[in-house]
Amino acid sequence: MAVGEYKPGLEGIPATQSNISFIDGQQGLLEYRGIRIEELCRYSNFLETAYLLIFGELPTAKQFAAFVEDVNYRRRIKYRIRDMIKCFPESGQPMDALQSCIAALGMFYPLADLHDASFIYDATARLIAKMPTLVATFHLMRQGNDPVAPRDDLSYAANFLYMLNEKEPDPLAAHVFDVCLTLHAEHTVNASTFCALVTASTLTDPYTVLTSAIGTLSGPLHGGANEEVMRMLAEIGTIENVVPYLERKIKNKEKIMGFGHRIYKVKDPRANILQELAIKLFDRFGHDPYFDLAIELENQAAKYLAEKGIFPNVDFYSGLVYRKLGIPTDLFTPIFAIARTAGWLAHWKEQLADNRLFRPIQVYTGRHGVRYKPIGER
Ligand code: ACO
Repeated sequence: MAVGEYKPGLEGIPATQSNISFIDGQQGLLEYRGIRIEELCRYSNFLETAYLLIFGELPTAKQFAAFVEDVNYRRRIKYRIRDMIKCFPESGQPMDALQSCIAALGMFYPLADLHDASFIYDATARLIAKMPTLVATFHLMRQGNDPVAPRDDLSYAANFLYMLNEKEPDPLAAHVFDVCLTLHAEHTVNASTFCALVTASTLTDPYTVLTSAIGTLSGPLHGGANEEVMRMLAEIGTIENVVPYLERKIKNKEKIMGFGHRIYKVKDPRANILQELAIKLFDRFGHDPYFDLAIELENQAAKYLAEKGIFPNVDFYSGLVYRKLGIPTDLFTPIFAIARTAGWLAHWKEQLADNRLFRPIQVYTGRHGVRYKPIGER
């Protein structure tokens, strides 16, 4: 086989075949199992969308009721996991805490038969159920508080906000948060999903697959960008500073966080949805001056970046929505992980159905035939 051209970052190289989601980066189109993201955000909810992604079809009413019950039933975490979280440093990164918890969870639910549909279903329901509890538990315990037990009578989104803030959320807040989860649930073969696929291809357990993916999502070029956006808006501070900030960044060839995407060459459709959600929240709960900075930044950045196909991505407005929901900045990426668990599990299941171990090749650029030099001669 001829060695192909090396493409840094595997840009443009198909890494898998998949029928889970589709992006048209020129049109700004995103579909999950053929359904447009705008339609899912309007009519579906996160758990139904997760079912669609993982099992391939929208559930019947009976299937959906059973799935919701199976997820709700698994929301609690074992006291040993809770005790482990208690030992984490308060200053620890929430993504590291989440990654450690998911790795530890694998010890409680050992790998059984990967071809057994009930093993896949149970692991899926368990991971979707426990991710929010783990994030909320770490957040409360790092502040020295007792964790809040999940409530089965609340929706997936409402329960997370309830556990985090120790009070039932406003229905609009819960709805907006649910839409955020839906639109972060899946996004083809991005870095963390690719990482999940590689790990899945070794036929290890799903907890290890998710542990790999969570680690990959944590970087600032991927899931960590929404946290960076909020830091950037704080640094800009006032409308007058937007243009000087932009000019400085462009001159120094630095990236504007929340802008640009390997696939989208127009504005990310998820950014449009998040922008609308932010406005809904502001109408109800009061305006956020950071939003004015973001709008001004988007308008001004277009003058410099639009011709390169660089527009706001999903991370540009998500932080503003989370901020209005009272979510601390360092939980933005863990929330992304909660949502993306659906996509990772869908790809894990798809990989298992037609597995081949990932083993790419490299283009070697090193030396040959070098003689070993004893330590005293170096
Ligand atoms: N701000 C300014 N310029 C940018 C930006 C940006 N955010 N993104 C890309 N560019 C410019 C680059 O400087 C480069 O310019 P040049 O050709 O003149 O040298 C050109 O656009 C191509 O940039 P690359 O970094 O090669 O493009 P890539 O496809 O690797 O970029 C990426 C994708 C990594 C997301 C990039 O746009 C970026 O770093 N954005 C900021 C971080 C961010 O928001 N990440 C979240 C992505 S969405 C997600 O993962 C959920």
